[in-house]
Amino acid sequence: MRAEVVEMWADYIDPEAIERAGRILKEGGLVAFPTETVYGLGGNALDPRASMKIYAAKGRPSDNPLIVHIAEMDKLAEIVSRIPDEARILAERFWPGPLTMILPKADKVPKETTGGLDSVAVRFPSDKIAQELIKAAGGYVAAPSANTSGRPSPTKAEHVEEDLGDAIDMIIDGGQVGIGLESTIVDFTDEIPVVLRPGYISLEMLQEILGEVRMDKGLLITECNVRPKAPGMKYRHYAPAADLTIIEGNEAAVIGRINQFAADAEKRGMQVGIIATDETAEKYPSGIVKSIGSREDEDSIGRHLFEVLREFDHCNVCAIYSEAFYTPRIGQAIMNRLLKAAGHKIISAS
Ligand code: TXA
Ligand code: MG
Repeated sequence: MRAEVVEMWADYIDPEAIERAGRILKEGGLVAFPTETVYGLGGNALDPRASMKIYAAKGRPSDNPLIVHIAEMDKLAEIVSRIPDEARILAERFWPGPLTMILPKADKVPKETTGGLDSVAVRFPSDKIAQELIKAAGGYVAAPSANTSGRPSPTKAEHVEEDLGDAIDMIIDGGQVGIGLESTIVDFTDEIPVVLRPGYISLEMLQEILGEVRMDKGLLITECNVRPKAPGMKYRHYAPAADLTIIEGNEAAVIGRINQFAADAEKRGMQVGIIATDETAEKYPSGIVKSIGSREDEDSIGRHLFEVLREFDHCNVCAIYSEAFYTPRIGQAIMNRLLKAAGHKIISAS
């Protein structure tokens, strides 16, 4: 059966539709919904069968734990066995918002939801539609990103329809998301807080508040023999169908090198895809050029990354070349996703 698509706006949330969506979740069904980061694929987090359904719909390995979404602060204490002071401080500062915290789980949370782990990932999203849905569903919604496992995360309802339209009960269409990169994950199960996935809330922002915070060793490319601690970060992810390579270096050198690749492909009767910015798009005379956003507005780059990667799956290109985006605040998160999409293929042009 095809999922029902229901349009909704944050400034008018239809109570009848939300109630219906909440009921689907309470009865063990699956509803995709917008959050400020990416669209989530929701199921009742306390129902092991719902979690199994989520894994099946996404084609996701069931050892890859789900994030439990809450919409009221006091719900946190019911699903974790301990809240360290530092986690409390981050919750006060960043919730609701794009932050997920890993904490020791309470018995109430089934192991199916946590991929067999004794810890649970918890997030309180700021999106109003998400909040109303979570409340209508009883308070605890397990939700990974609403994409087929391995594909770029969805930033529009159309992306969810494309991947999961046949596998779930309802899709709430709240338009394009604001951030476009999944939440920052901070792990509190060790002595020192560790970032398992960089996001809109940067390492520096966390360090400013908590002092010592580390980046998971498995995320640093130089140490690629170390496994990332978040099970999901070890999988191939976000990859477009065509081979993607990142070209880094000064602007002129990058443009020169990409144009060379484009010209070589053209000689062989083929076309490359190029991920450029508003500032550089016109400097690529051949190939299929897509601007990801403006370097003057790094949030625009974060917001469009997954969409651009998806768009290239509908283009006939033999390879894709992307500029690098080491932007000041969220560059860490953007490059983390882009490098994964490229299978860590990066060339220096300078
Ligand atoms: O922004 C987001 O976080 C979105 C929206 C929907 O909230 N959700 C999302 O979920 O990105 P997902 O499942 O695509 O990514 C969750 C990541 C995975 O890499 C998973 O392995 C990790 O979090 N994770 C979840 N629980 C964990 C745990 N107990 N310990 C370590 N890593 C965990
Ligand atoms: Mg995901």
